[in-house]
This record gives sequence, C-alpha cells and structure tokens, in this order.
Amino acid sequence: MLHRYAVIGNPIEHSQSPTIHAAFAQQCGEAIDYGRILGDRHDFAGDVQRFFAQGGLGLNVTLPFKEQAWALVEERSERAEVAGAVNTLIALADGRLRGDNTDGIGLVRDLADNHGFVFAGTRVLLLGAGGAARGALVPLLESGLRELVIANRTPERAHTLAALGSGAVPVSGCGFEALAGERFDLVINATSSGLSDTVPPIPADLLAPGGWTYDMLYGAAPTAFCRWGRAHGVAHSLDGLGMLVEQAAESFRLWRGVRPRTAEVIAMLRAAD
Ligand code: ATR
Repeated sequence: MLHRYAVIGNPIEHSQSPTIHAAFAQQCGEAIDYGRILGDRHDFAGDVQRFFAQGGLGLNVTLPFKEQAWALVEERSERAEVAGAVNTLIALADGRLRGDNTDGIGLVRDLADNHGFVFAGTRVLLLGAGGAARGALVPLLESGLRELVIANRTPERAHTLAALGSGAVPVSGCGFEALAGERFDLVINATSSGLSDTVPPIPADLLAPGGWTYDMLYGAAPTAFCRWGRAHGVAHSLDGLGMLVEQAAESFRLWRGVRPRTAEVIAMLRAAD
C-alpha cells in the first residue's frame, strides 16, 4: 500500500518537492506517493482537512500558506512555534495534526554537513526579518554560533525578531546603516530582494577574512547575492538549493523515521538546472 504525502501551495506547479521526495523514497525503499496540491487561497483549511480525511499522512506547506498552517495545527514543535510558520504537517495517531518547520534546520545542515562550515565561535549576520529569516532563527541559535546579528530594511522588524531569541546566545537587531565597520564570518540573505535581482544596501567590507555568504534563494544562474559575495572576497558563496533538499530530508525523517542521503539528490537537481 502506498502512503500518501503531498506539497500544498499556490502556485505549485514549479515545486521540486515531488521530485525530491520520490528520490528519497526510492533510495530508502519507502512506498510513498508524493503529489502536488494547488491550494485554494480562500479555503486552505478545507484542502488540508480533505487530504487527511482521505488517508493522507503528511503535507509540506509552501507559499502562501505557511502561517495559516501554523494557526491550523493542534500541536507544534518549538522551532515551528517561534518561526510562526509551519512547512510540515504530520498526522498524529490520535487524529490531531502536528506542525513543524524544517526550513531553518535545512539551512544549518546544508552549511555544516554538506559544506563543512563550522558554526562554533562564529559571528553571523542574518539579512531580513520576514518569514524566511524567522524560520531560521531557532536552528541558527542552536548551531553553536557565538553571536547573531539580524539586519533589516525596516529595523523595528529586526528588533522584534531578535527579541524572540532565547537569551542563551547574544542576538541583536539593526538597520543596514548600523553595519558600517562590522565584520562577519557568515552572511545569510533571507530578504526577498533577490527576486528583483538586487542585494540589500550593505557595506562592501562586511566579510571577515575567510567569510562565507549564503543566499536562501537559488536559481540556474548565480543569484545577485552570490555574485555580491564573489565580488567581495568571499571564501564560499552558497545558494539555497541545498537548504531546499535538506528541509525536505528532515520532513521525510519526521514522517518515515529514516533520514535520506541528500548529496546525490542535490547533485541531480543541480545537473537538471
Ligand atoms: P519572506 O517570507 O520571503 O521572508 P517577507 O516576510 O515578505 O517574505 O519578508 C521579506 C523580507 O525581505 C523582509 O525582511 C523585507 O524587508 P522589510 O521588512 O523592510 O520589508 C526584505 N526585503 C524585501 N525587498 C527588499 C529590498 N529590495 N531590499 C532589502 N530588503 C528587502
């Protein structure tokens, strides 16, 4: 019997999730059927309810429904609670729905496991304070980094996001102007400025020697922020394709109890670009 999963979003036709999960299922010998659902912008809850009522076991949730999914579930992981967004729905044995958010751990695993970035002792800058940045907050603060600074076009949103930190790791918020003279080991772009092929107005000398950049966006061509990194002496400039595959792997693990290997799936998607 096939176990049913799907990704729900609107639009949804370009989602790579079915390809990724099919590859994981084949690799792990798991009998799953993973589909795509074009969610109704006015009846997301109804779509979710129908999927699970028909025997579905889990959903990935993408734009624009992650916040609605957060509000819908009856139980949340701590990282999802803080993220204010849910990208993974899990049907519990008692019929309730649990929500998790695997985006941030996907980011941290891509950097640490796939590329060998050592978070311990580092000073990290997170650009942006919207949904993408918020989803990364808890996993970043648990990564072992020494200090996190969040910079945003609207500084108040950066302050608000920083205040969600647990207090165990120093985290502060600011506007882009306040970055003058600062140095970071890793700069992560979680703004949506790349969608218009631009980068936020950040100082040219932001990277410490040997510093890395990570753009949560990805595309066939290097993103604007990847190009910025390369033009400003970065040691490694990464895009978000690995994060996409890693968040999927964590969802797969939550559902199936096995963690798939990701390297071959990342390579497959990279080759298909
Ligand atoms: P997402 O879910 O992609 O994070 P969002 O919640 O709308 O989307 O957040 C978009 C983020 O990108 C915000 O941090 C936004 O800054 P503001 O909070 O000041 O709006 C940031 N952003 C969008 N366009 C930008 C640009 N051209 N330059 C810098 N930051 C930008």
